[in-house]
Amino acid sequence: MVCRPLYRAKRWRLKGETLTSTKRDSLEIGWKEIPESLQSCKGEDFQKTFAEVKNVIAHQLGNSSLKGIKGFIFYGEPGNGKTLMAKVLAKELQLSLFFVDGSVIARELYGQSERQIVKIFTTAGKKRSLILIDDAESVFPDRDWMKGESWHVAQNNILFHQIDDLDTSRTSLIMTTNKFQLLDSALKDRLYAIEFPPVDQRTALEVARMKCAEKGIDSARAEGQIVAEPEAFRSGRAIEKLVVREYIRQIGEGEGNKLRT
Ligand SMILES: Nc1ncnc2c1ncn2[C@@H]1O[C@H](COP(=O)(O)OP(=O)(O)O)[C@@H](O)[C@H]1O
Ligand SMILES: [Mg+2]
Repeated sequence: MVCRPLYRAKRWRLKGETLTSTKRDSLEIGWKEIPESLQSCKGEDFQKTFAEVKNVIAHQLGNSSLKGIKGFIFYGEPGNGKTLMAKVLAKELQLSLFFVDGSVIARELYGQSERQIVKIFTTAGKKRSLILIDDAESVFPDRDWMKGESWHVAQNNILFHQIDDLDTSRTSLIMTTNKFQLLDSALKDRLYAIEFPPVDQRTALEVARMKCAEKGIDSARAEGQIVAEPEAFRSGRAIEKLVVREYIRQIGEGEGNKLRT
């Protein structure tokens, strides 16, 4: 069972300071401040999708006469690398990242989130930027599905206008979601949807090796578990948890050894 905290705080470290976005509608992050890098992204599927999306955004940047694609929807199970790819795209394309946490904006009071959407698009639209609306299904649910709840309808309409007016020679939009079917179909018409499949075993092993090396631990046992139970480790998040368990275990053993000597 996947347990999600009720109130999820995303933390970012900017210039030695810890910022939390729980009280923020969005956070602007300079591309140099993004810690994730392309080197740490594994898997052929991931690399192929990354190259495609990067090429489209790069092609549109600076080309104001072009009628291009406003952006992308990344969808798939949690932990499949959607947020990771958006961040690394911003970094590699040297774009300011406007990170919007869908679950935060959805909690805002009636009317406020509409103003915030406009503010984010206006601020981002002034520079070379990427707007990332993460976990978007909680904030822009399908109009039929919510039976015309007026607040959401107004909010969605404002978003559609902002997307239609987006100047893709400067700014692109990426939305991520674990629940593609809940997203408003008008969004699906405006943005190009890409599925993020679960990671294959080879990629899972590569990610595990990399994450073990980052933590300075031996990867043999984690790799053994992935081979023994391939279906349990098909998301980056599951592999991350496995590596953390292994890290704690190996440190425990090390401490035990020290105590014994
Ligand atoms: N292809 C990949 N290569 C390296 N790490 C990955 C990959 N896919 C996922 N991960 C890792 O798995 C974790 C979850 O990824 P994330 O992008 O947050 O997933 P999602 O947004 O799809 O829920 C992160 O630590 C990320 O670094
Ligand atoms: Mg995500």
